[in-house]
Amino acid sequence: MTSAFARYLAAKTTVDDRALNRHVLAELRRLMPAGAPRVLEVGAGLGTMVARLMDWGAVGAGEYVLLDADRQLLDCSRRWLRDWAAARGLRRYLLPDGLQVGDLRVGLVHAELGTYLEAAHGAPADVLIANAVLDLVDAPTVLPGLLRLLVPGGVYWFTINYDGESIFAPGHPRDDQVMQAYHRDMDERFRYGRAAGDSRTGRRLFHYLRGARAPALAAGSSDWVVSAGPDGNYPGDEAYFLCSILSTIQNALRSHQDRVEPADLADWLAVRDRQLAAGELVYIAHQLDFVGRSPG
Ligand SMILES: C[S@@+](CC[C@H](N)C(=O)[O-])C[C@H]1O[C@@H](n2cnc3c(N)ncnc32)[C@H](O)[C@@H]1O
Repeated sequence: MTSAFARYLAAKTTVDDRALNRHVLAELRRLMPAGAPRVLEVGAGLGTMVARLMDWGAVGAGEYVLLDADRQLLDCSRRWLRDWAAARGLRRYLLPDGLQVGDLRVGLVHAELGTYLEAAHGAPADVLIANAVLDLVDAPTVLPGLLRLLVPGGVYWFTINYDGESIFAPGHPRDDQVMQAYHRDMDERFRYGRAAGDSRTGRRLFHYLRGARAPALAAGSSDWVVSAGPDGNYPGDEAYFLCSILSTIQNALRSHQDRVEPADLADWLAVRDRQLAAGELVYIAHQLDFVGRSPG
């Protein structure tokens, strides 16, 4: 994984800040164990969620483990979190397997989720988080094992689960064709030798969670809505975020020329690039958040 992906995840922070469902978040705060809980975040990427939860006062002490399949990204996360903590004047120091930020010990675990779930583990977590991740794995297969990482009755918070709808405005005649092909690529995706994703994960999680005996206690939409301000500039690094989304679509469709003609895709991308440069492009992605408890 390249530093371009790390920059994408950093740029996504402000988009997620706006998107995360506040009703679901309020329920998470209500369910959050007092004291110094053990939190596990899977597919944690750069670790922007632990920074956000500290900023928002939802997490402050205890242990927070970041698990990800991408070792380079975890290395970046150590430095990114150290710099984030320094900017806020928080006590911080690097540890051999993570870092200390204030009263929170952040641990880093390099593992592929499916393999991790098949192996034996140490102490179960009190809180389990997955942000923009469950649509990248085969959720119904993974969920039972994932929930077993929690203490009985432990709290899960599964957020930014893509749900089959991306809107680019202004409209373009090829939008439906491009998005259908993109969704099909998501549905057929294989990573780490396993089925990896579903373009309608969001709506399906209601049933998957119920099937895993952990029905949601609260759910709500967490749509990404990205547009330029009145001055024509996108907030933060969100122009880069949009550029990355367009590149992701381009890369996904490159190998499916039977679904969208290369010339049509090139035209669609050229129009979107021009709109992005002019601050005219609006992007909306429908997603859903869930909070609940593990069985028992
Ligand atoms: C879209 S990124 C989200 C990262 C972070 N949660 C965030 O919202 O900023 C998905 C992350 O999940 C990780 N990931 C994807 N599939 C995985 C798997 N099977 N096992 C472990 N990590 C995985 C990727 O390496 C990546 O860091």
